Amino acid sequence: MKDRPIVPEGEILRQREFMKLVEAMDARPRSFHIVSMGCQMNERDSESIAGMLQEMGMAPAAKREDADLILYNTCCVRENAENKALGNVIWLKELKKDKPDLMICVGGCMTQEKGMAAMMKKRYPFIDLVYGTHNMYKLPEYVWRVLTEKRPVIEVMDIDGEVVEGLPEARKSDFMAFVNIMYGCDNFCTYCIVPHVRGRERSRTPEAVLEECVRLQDAGVREIMLLGQNVNSYRGGGAEFAELLYRVDKIGIERIRFMTSHPKDLSDELIAAFGELKHLMPQLHLPVQAGDDEILRRMNRRYTRAHYLDLVNRLRSVCPDIGLTSDIIVGFPGESEAQFEATMSLARQVRFDAAYTFVFSPRAGTRAAELPDDTPYEVKSARIQRLIDLQQSITYETLRAQVGKTDRVLVEAASTRDAGSVGGKTPRGHMVNFPGGQDLIGKFVDVEITSAGKNTLRGKIIGG
Ligand code: SAH
Ligand code: SF4
Ligand code: F3S
Repeated sequence: MKDRPIVPEGEILRQREFMKLVEAMDARPRSFHIVSMGCQMNERDSESIAGMLQEMGMAPAAKREDADLILYNTCCVRENAENKALGNVIWLKELKKDKPDLMICVGGCMTQEKGMAAMMKKRYPFIDLVYGTHNMYKLPEYVWRVLTEKRPVIEVMDIDGEVVEGLPEARKSDFMAFVNIMYGCDNFCTYCIVPHVRGRERSRTPEAVLEECVRLQDAGVREIMLLGQNVNSYRGGGAEFAELLYRVDKIGIERIRFMTSHPKDLSDELIAAFGELKHLMPQLHLPVQAGDDEILRRMNRRYTRAHYLDLVNRLRSVCPDIGLTSDIIVGFPGESEAQFEATMSLARQVRFDAAYTFVFSPRAGTRAAELPDDTPYEVKSARIQRLIDLQQSITYETLRAQVGKTDRVLVEAASTRDAGSVGGKTPRGHMVNFPGGQDLIGKFVDVEITSAGKNTLRGKIIGG
């Protein structure tokens, strides 16, 4: 991976000037609402967007209907994600009829698709601003232009992104934080649109990552999640991912997790880290996608079933209690019944704690979208249902095996189901709910696991 240019500090200072210019305007939005779709990268971007909008003098609104500016941070990884984004945007047209000053902004991965910005300009003239993933940092300038020029601004850049440092941020949580370590992806899995909309891989320097972690720790953060489409190919200032992880571990933040790991790049050093690092949680999201070698080859995943199983064995030998989770695609073009059975048998063999399963969705511009596919959708639906049923029983058995254990839990939030209960994750990543007051949120407690549900655990506090 080549070192990528950092957006010059001067450019960020210029954007800060635009933030001030907007803030000084009389006729401008006073409140904003961001709808964040897709993955954690988008969630993290939304925190920077919120930071910029706040610097422009706007306050967050809890509901879309109450906001003067609504921003959609979109995803397009599967067709349904895209349909959801477009459906939402169309709904805003009605809202704007009653509220002509409403500013509607659409950014994120979907706008970066070929032809999408032009289509939106033509079909949705009520959208005020369309920007892409590579120029998100110019949001202040674009908002200012919409307000002063009084016409839509459509700006999507085709070039690969750079690394942006120094944007304002409004973090969602005081005690858990996402930390980007890299952007983009070079893997070009044949089904995947991410490299097309997020650009080439580029890493932040270790110094920038470490500085951010220290800052977060000083602000009281207890758990961080290092983020990248493929953190295993991180290479910042010559350092590899395992090296970065050792350095982050030394800072002393109580909990470190990361995602996503690509199996082809999971190094020996990284596997060893699970046995050595004090703060690295025993949890790994390691998407396998399929259990059949021919399908893996056609997906351009560049590992075999045997290699994946070997990684799992090695991870479990250094860290027997590691919680492994995965992503699995069902119904890749040409997938035969026997090939699907290979995925089923892999799921049975590995026994993931959880697996996110998807029916293959053709994405324009990707290689797999061109492959012949004669499996009817009903067959694919039936296959994914079998996989879901299998995984649910494995997840349930895994959760039941936790009953009786005592785990340290970082309390994240009030339970949505039980009044008077709160919940958080065990080191292995299982969600556990237990009776407790909201004053515990952000604190660590020792919890005895008392029972298992389908997807979560229940417990009781036995110590602080
Ligand atoms: N960078 C991550 C994941 C990115 S997308 C990784 O490499 O694992 C998240 C998941 O969406 C993928 O792991 C994959 O399982 C799924 N996905 C991506 N493109 C898809 C498509 N076209 N159809 C169905 N699922 C897809
Ligand atoms: Fe997509 Fe593959 Fe890159 Fe993940 S590694 S983002 S699945 S191309
Ligand atoms: Fe979606 Fe973009 Fe993430 S396409 S999954 S939001 S990188």
